[in-house]
Amino acid sequence: MDAKQENNQHNTVVAVYPGSFDPVTNGHLDIIHRAAKVFDKLVVAVLNNTSKNPLFSVEERVELLRQVTADLPNVEIDSFRDLLINYMRQKNAHLIVRGLRAVSDFEYELQMASTNRKLSEEIETFFMTSTPKYSYLSSSIVKEVARFHGPVADLVPPEVERALLEKYASR
Ligand code: PNS
Repeated sequence: MDAKQENNQHNTVVAVYPGSFDPVTNGHLDIIHRAAKVFDKLVVAVLNNTSKNPLFSVEERVELLRQVTADLPNVEIDSFRDLLINYMRQKNAHLIVRGLRAVSDFEYELQMASTNRKLSEEIETFFMTSTPKYSYLSSSIVKEVARFHGPVADLVPPEVERALLEKYASR
């Protein structure tokens, strides 16, 4: 690596947007679009958490995220199964992005951000407030509506709507 390449690497600001994304909603996508404008590179990292009994497998969640962010060249989709800070070390990233919807999110988010900083002093968490029209939206709410065959077209991208229809068609 020459000096210029090395310099470029150091100047690249990489942020990680971690979550369950079961599935990705328009609220997540709004944060992804806005964060991708702020940071040089955004890694959307799906937690491979078997204990949460997700609707979509981690592979399905990653694939849906890849499809809905295909137009964003500085966004990478990945998964992790470890402590977030260990994954961040692997990625050489120090910044976490999280969306804040309502006051009710705050306590849990403060707990996570404080824990991550306790575990690694180099980690900083950046919060982006959600666009008001998505402030009520969550993956759980979307699944609840889709489970009873309600309309989710305004809540998720079309690829996710199709995937939800397929999942619940046989249930
Ligand atoms: O979308 P979610 O479920 O609110 O995301 C939560 C997530 C995945 C960001 C959080 O549970 C996490 O980072 N889990 C990995 C384990 C970890 O590092 N825990 C320590 C921070 S509390």
